[in-house]
Amino acid sequence: MPNNNANDSETTQQLPPGPKGHPLIGSLPEMHKERVQFLLDLREEYGDVVWFKVAKNNICLVADPDDIVHVLGHNSANYHKSNQYKQLAKTLGPSVLITEDDQWKHQRRMMDPHFRRDILNGYAEMMVKTTTAMVDRWLAEVKPGETIDLMKEMSRLTLSIVCNALFGVDISTESAEAGQAFSLVLEFGSKRLQPASPEHLADMLNLPTEKRRQWLAAQETLNKIIDGLIADRRKNGAKDDLLSGLVFAKDEQGGPAMSDEELRSQVLTLFLAGHETTATALTWTFTLLSQHPESERKLHEELVAAIGDRLPTVDDLPQMSYGQQVIDESLRVYPPIPMIARMALGDDTLGGYHIPAGTMVVLSPEVTHRHPDYWDNPEGFDPERFEPEAVKARPHFAYFPFGGGPRKCIGDNFAALELRLVVSTVVQRVRLELAAGHKVQAGALLTQRPEGVVNMTVHPR
Ligand code: HEM
Repeated sequence: MPNNNANDSETTQQLPPGPKGHPLIGSLPEMHKERVQFLLDLREEYGDVVWFKVAKNNICLVADPDDIVHVLGHNSANYHKSNQYKQLAKTLGPSVLITEDDQWKHQRRMMDPHFRRDILNGYAEMMVKTTTAMVDRWLAEVKPGETIDLMKEMSRLTLSIVCNALFGVDISTESAEAGQAFSLVLEFGSKRLQPASPEHLADMLNLPTEKRRQWLAAQETLNKIIDGLIADRRKNGAKDDLLSGLVFAKDEQGGPAMSDEELRSQVLTLFLAGHETTATALTWTFTLLSQHPESERKLHEELVAAIGDRLPTVDDLPQMSYGQQVIDESLRVYPPIPMIARMALGDDTLGGYHIPAGTMVVLSPEVTHRHPDYWDNPEGFDPERFEPEAVKARPHFAYFPFGGGPRKCIGDNFAALELRLVVSTVVQRVRLELAAGHKVQAGALLTQRPEGVVNMTVHPR
């Protein structure tokens, strides 16, 4: 039986408990097949610090909020992002998501001011307008009894929003070339990160498969389009968009401006990080609301009382606290990024156990968001958990859908604004209902997208 109660003084050299795994490959099959479920099971069986192997890698799952804040915050200097992020570098280049130490600090200093709340509020109207166009299209085109593919719709919407914020226009739909390149890069790119997937193997072994060739060509197309936009801002001066902010950003500590390569890399990263996560969050939110009609009704009533038929604005949001609670709870149950991985640079101690340098430390928002010590009925959907008093009573890092510490999501306020405004605009005008007999399950790609298609019927109010 594992010992889950390590005593600090005796056990600082003791590794955490965990499964033995298979010879040579450790827990590779389990981790590959049902990544998040496997982590949930490990916590339940072994406790808050669990040690396991996947092939040659030593991995430590950490589920306790104090240990999480230690890794992401107090001792973050001892932890670099894991190799998974380095794999992303091949597609994204040296972006703020991937770089470390001085290069990361320099990039983050230059980018942070453009993600301040007052700047982001300038995108609110565009977010509502883009969502309204989507709802208008549904109402005009979706016949009674027909369904929409919700994840597809949300991906299209969030890509359009992030494009509009970055460039002032939606280049993903402006030209067929750009739209196609986006789809190919995103699809192959996220499958490539799945160990043992055909895309992963094709890329690792440089196999000249048709799909890989198309992916490389699409990347080149996308790079050219972005380079063209950067060159335009340099030549013709700033426009009212995020790209201009980044091109002309100044480092308050006197560092150099970002190179074209760094800029292109940031733009690609903001596309990837900014649209897939938010689309996943929206898809789960509407799915959960459809499964919990009483919450949907309450949300609609709050909207009617606060704004009636008028389009929502950023100033309305503080009057609609239940809307925020719904989104917080949706991000708790299905955090779009279900795990965050770090590499320990030096030895450390977590939960009283020894963590040797070179260990991959895994923090899982999903595992901690379902920890029974902090959440009653953790599997249930209950927005009331985010009443202010209840939030105060929990440890801060019992909930961390956007990560934490210095590398907390740079787009958290952008996402929060977008989620609130999109949900308000949709719920005000239509009720989405899961198609009869449709079951929705979490998938296991880079983000926690639902598995397969989520079919919804659309009911005008
Ligand atoms: C619901 C939506 C979102 C969720 C749940 C989410 C979640 C996260 C998480 C968990 C991290 C930390 C990863 C780590 O520490 O390893 C992160 C980082 C990041 N996110 Fe988000 N994100 C969302 C939306 C966005 C948006 C809208 C943008 C940009 C427009 C964005 C850009 C980034 C970037 C650039 C980083 C890297 C920051 C750094 O390392 O300094 N994210 N995000």
